[in-house]
Amino acid sequence: MISRLLFRILLAAPMAAATLPASARAQTEAVRVVVNADLGRDTISRHIYGHFAEHLGRGIYDGIWRKNSGGEWQIRDDVVAALRAIKIPNLRWPGGCFADRYHWRDGVGPKAKRPSIVNTLWGDVTEDNHVGTHEFIDLVQRLGTEPFIVGNVGSGTVQEMADWWEYLNFGGRSPMADLRKQNGHEAPWKVRYFGVGNESWGCGGNMTPEYYANEYRRYATFLHPHGGVLPFRVATGPNAEDYRWTEVMLRKAGRFIDGLDLHYYTVVNNWEKKGSATEFTEREWIIALQKAMRVDEVITRHSAVMDQYDPGKRIALIVGEWGMWHDSEPGTKPGFLYQQNTMRDALVASVSLDIFNRHADRVRMANIAQTVNVLQAMILTSGDTMILTPTYHVFEMYTVHHDAVLLPSVVSGGQYQYDNVSVPAVCVSASRDRSGRIHVTMSNLDPTKARAVEMDVRGARVANVSGRILRGHAMNSRHTFGKPTAVRPATFTGARVDGDRVWVELPSRAVVVLELW
Ligand code: AHR
Repeated sequence: MISRLLFRILLAAPMAAATLPASARAQTEAVRVVVNADLGRDTISRHIYGHFAEHLGRGIYDGIWRKNSGGEWQIRDDVVAALRAIKIPNLRWPGGCFADRYHWRDGVGPKAKRPSIVNTLWGDVTEDNHVGTHEFIDLVQRLGTEPFIVGNVGSGTVQEMADWWEYLNFGGRSPMADLRKQNGHEAPWKVRYFGVGNESWGCGGNMTPEYYANEYRRYATFLHPHGGVLPFRVATGPNAEDYRWTEVMLRKAGRFIDGLDLHYYTVVNNWEKKGSATEFTEREWIIALQKAMRVDEVITRHSAVMDQYDPGKRIALIVGEWGMWHDSEPGTKPGFLYQQNTMRDALVASVSLDIFNRHADRVRMANIAQTVNVLQAMILTSGDTMILTPTYHVFEMYTVHHDAVLLPSVVSGGQYQYDNVSVPAVCVSASRDRSGRIHVTMSNLDPTKARAVEMDVRGARVANVSGRILRGHAMNSRHTFGKPTAVRPATFTGARVDGDRVWVELPSRAVVVLELW
């Protein structure tokens, strides 16, 4: 822990700074954080911490499910235990792009009779449909989470989608409810979250917003409330900065929409050559963080468009796919999107989650892509072993924000600059939980310099602080199957309360969660 005197020196530091090059001098600037503990209004929905599992690569088969000695796919207990520990609130399935190619009837009934199909988009591999609706619901029940099912608009019919909905949710006698019972499940599952297609502007059918808005209205009409379960209808939202898509959807179909599904990926270079997940320069580090932080502006702009048609904010903006998308790991099938995960990914996760929290009034769900073995995963598996990624630990540390009241916060001072790129060095969000404790999550994006943070918690009396930290010894610190615990949360002792301030020395490239009471 630093002394107050040393802290003041760090805040002032003009002499030390004078000897540094100009770019480094700017980095010694102190950071001030104001947390408005008396201005809490919006709840941070736990659904911001949602996940996504697509039939893609080794996400489902050989990821969440593993073949047992009898050749049957079985849910992995170790994966379930790890995901339960981060309290995943919802799980989006079966895609992604796969959803608009998926015909749900292929995945119900006796497994031996289920047809094998080709997963054309993801590696042209055979999908034997052994994981279907019943198996997925079994998974979400074991996880204690809510299902978020995406229906097929691109290559399916309205009738097919309406039948699936009835199969999932109708309790009485009907062709679909009877079929479900015949397939071994008497009671309806009461699925609420339902996506009407995925990326309909791209892999879901390459539609214009005008065309999709009409299709959406038609499909959504047939998601009839059953047994008191009102569907939460999720429309395909914009691709990143496509504000026109949002405008057309709200104007033409807004009254039928409950959630609009924005997709925003962080790609360091470009879609053709994204860059390595593990071998990168400091420039590629800062660019990743800069691009991840841009989602703040993207959300603000989409929200402004939504406000024109929905000033009461009835419709949620859902960030239904987000995260880092790197080149696939060398030696793996490119169509499987298997990538490693480092401290850089952890910081992209922490700043993204801070941003979603800060937009809690409009962003009420988000789903990182994807849960196991695909893109910015929580878990990587190899045979019977699994490792948790640095991103997993961020999700675990951030569980304190689930359903807590957002406390508006302001950060000033302290840029981190490299070459001609500059981002705020410190990113923050804060909340108060049901027991009255305040939690502040704080990341230092600078890979080489610690930051001195002076925090003013207004409207609350703070006497104590404790914390945990996630930090790697290098920018690309990660877990491997040989070394599975290189980046793990530890007790943080760099914060202390002094009078009406909390003083924090935030180490470089670190994510910290503080508890104040
Ligand atoms: O997450 C991988 C893919 O990215 C999804 O299938 C698709 O929706 C998006 O383009």
